[in-house]
Amino acid sequence: MKQLIDKLYNQTTLTKEEYAALIAHHSAEEAEYLFSLSREVRHRCYGHDVYIRGLIEFTNYCKNDCYYCGIRRSNQNADRYRLTKEDILLCCQEGYELGFRTFVLQGGEDPYFTDEKMTDMITSIKTRYPDCAITISAGEKEHESYQAFFDAGADRYLLRHETANAKHYAQLHPASLSWQHRIRCLYDLKTIGYQVGCGFMVGSPFQTTEDLAQEMLFIKELQPHMVGIGPFIAQHDTPFRSRSNGTLEQTLFMLGLIRLTLPHVLLPSTTALGTIHPLGREKGILAGANVVMPNLSPVSVRKKYMLYDNKICTGDEAAECRLCLQKRMQSIGYRVVTARGDYKVS
Ligand code: 5AD
Ligand code: FES
Repeated sequence: MKQLIDKLYNQTTLTKEEYAALIAHHSAEEAEYLFSLSREVRHRCYGHDVYIRGLIEFTNYCKNDCYYCGIRRSNQNADRYRLTKEDILLCCQEGYELGFRTFVLQGGEDPYFTDEKMTDMITSIKTRYPDCAITISAGEKEHESYQAFFDAGADRYLLRHETANAKHYAQLHPASLSWQHRIRCLYDLKTIGYQVGCGFMVGSPFQTTEDLAQEMLFIKELQPHMVGIGPFIAQHDTPFRSRSNGTLEQTLFMLGLIRLTLPHVLLPSTTALGTIHPLGREKGILAGANVVMPNLSPVSVRKKYMLYDNKICTGDEAAECRLCLQKRMQSIGYRVVTARGDYKVS
């Protein structure tokens, strides 16, 4: 297995069979070897800097019904909320003072937020904070909507593809959602000029080793600027309530593989990783990740954006996550930086 890891390090790609062999058959020692190389690649490009993104969860209404997600429309137990433009601008103000230079507006697919409302919000944030990057994560839209957000000043867009296998996609989503459309969205976003993030869950129901290997080929082909991954975590009000969670070990291994496959990628150590293990996010950084996304949502709504059970960072102090992550990163020899944290080409 070490030879395969060396080959990936040297060539930044493997065949699907090779990726699958690595994913299925590595030892703990081989995983550590992978992480030593993925850290080296990360340090070469980004040093020991950790970029922070202020995550603003602006609506938990969603018209979709994904089988894994706690804010799916059929979940009658979700306590729904929408932030106003004023709420969002207050989050940005607080975030700016805390050193954030990227704001991520994340929400369900909520028809209330028309293109007009979105562009108005983006323009307002960009006018007040011209030195900040704006990331939108609001699901599948038409090309013209993505274009309008971009023209209003959005810099980046996150849209996890969830799985690179169309058949697997159909096992995670109702028939009204199509894998083909989702992938088209990602290519539209790239064409428009966004820094684009895709991503998937590790250990989602029905996922096979082959699927995980396919993920690697998919990201190699798409060449996204960001890849967001985290373990699947069952949510008690969803059809997948009794499914087992993804593991820490497998998520870390995938982070290492992604770093070697796309050396320059912006790779978050996610909240879901921090949810399945108390030191999950630290371990994610040590496996090659270089981004963390502290929660900047108003404390009054944090407990309502429950995509999965036991989500962390729902505490009642606004600045808590920012300071908490700073300490956590320091404890492992990394430093949180106040910078937009754009994709670096070299
Ligand atoms: N477990 C882990 N991640 C989840 N997401 C949604 N539901 C879950 C869950 N139960 C992830 C999806 C989505 C992102 C916003 O959160 O990948 O794209
Ligand atoms: Fe949110 Fe620690 S990062 S509480």
